[in-house]
Amino acid sequence: MKKKILVTGGTGYIGSHTVVELQNAGYEVVIVDDLSNSNADVLDGIEKITGIRPVFVELDCNNKEGLNKLFLDNPGIKGIIHFAASKAVGESVQKPLLYYRNNIVTLLNLLELMPVHGVEGIVFSSSCTVYGQPDILPVTEDAPIKPALSPYGNTKQINEEIIRDTIYAGTPFKSIILRYFNPIGAHPSAEIGELPNGVPQNLVPFLTQTAIGIRQELSVFGDDYDTPDGSCIRDYINVVDLAKAHVIAVERMLENKSEEKLEIFNLGTGRGVSVLELINAFEKGTGVKVPYKIVGRREGDIEKVWADPDRANNVLGWTAKESVEDTIVTVWKWQLKLRERGIQ
Ligand code: UD1
Repeated sequence: MKKKILVTGGTGYIGSHTVVELQNAGYEVVIVDDLSNSNADVLDGIEKITGIRPVFVELDCNNKEGLNKLFLDNPGIKGIIHFAASKAVGESVQKPLLYYRNNIVTLLNLLELMPVHGVEGIVFSSSCTVYGQPDILPVTEDAPIKPALSPYGNTKQINEEIIRDTIYAGTPFKSIILRYFNPIGAHPSAEIGELPNGVPQNLVPFLTQTAIGIRQELSVFGDDYDTPDGSCIRDYINVVDLAKAHVIAVERMLENKSEEKLEIFNLGTGRGVSVLELINAFEKGTGVKVPYKIVGRREGDIEKVWADPDRANNVLGWTAKESVEDTIVTVWKWQLKLRERGIQ
């Protein structure tokens, strides 16, 4: 058995896929999650895929005493992957303080407790949102950080700064910051996937819910952008590929494979895909039509962004393998499974 890893937000979308890959790689996992945007049934899915039920602690990471007890009850945690966060851009504009508390106090609690309990490293879940609309595409990790367009985006920037300042102050642990582009897809077994609460804000869950008839019509936000078909361009990255990058990052951090105390990597495919291309890929891959209409632009949307993944490719030795075309089919399989289970 390899080292023990604490995964905050481990029953969430990216968290659960990462727990699967960690367990497949031999790590012992402790999940902490307050289930505010996920369900404990996810643990069954993880167990079905890996044959191992991870230790689960239901707790809000804002509760520092509770976290301290978690470390005492689960001795020997060597690394943390910190996913737990609120992530709805629109909601963050309405409820900024909720976002600042949930996304910042939780990180402070973890960073303060790490040296007390001998934790050697933390992988932080950041976002390409820190680049805003980049001046040069594909965007590298050295591109300037742009003013955030939402409190959610601001929390990611502030979190990165908190980690940087803490590491440079000479703390006895390391960190790797991973900037995700747009994670999509579900585990090929369809045992776990994305399960948003209420009306999905993100493109792919809205698309599959429309295809299955839960939503009437998908709105495409704008077709007058400066892109070949006029719709926005993103770098859609398969969630299992993304999860695997975390396992590599944890190993790099804890096995001292790098001299650096802090490293930052873009996690994307390097390929930009438009909203209309994605709808098209879904229809081709599944044979299912998606009713959609073009509406006005969504406030705060970036026109186009895709990653330069060279650093992750060359330094981490990680590459996104799955194509958008294959990935989008895994989401449909997941959506059908949810229907079969009577969930949606
Ligand atoms: C946003 C955030 C990102 C965050 C992610 C998680 C920004 C700039 N981006 O990504 O940081 O990690 O959410 O929630 O803050 N679209 C439609 N119709 C829909 C929904 C989306 O056309 O019903 C379009 C959008 O205009 C966009 C693309 O689909 O062009 C992707 O949107 P979405 O899935 O919401 O992700 P981002 O906005 O890229």
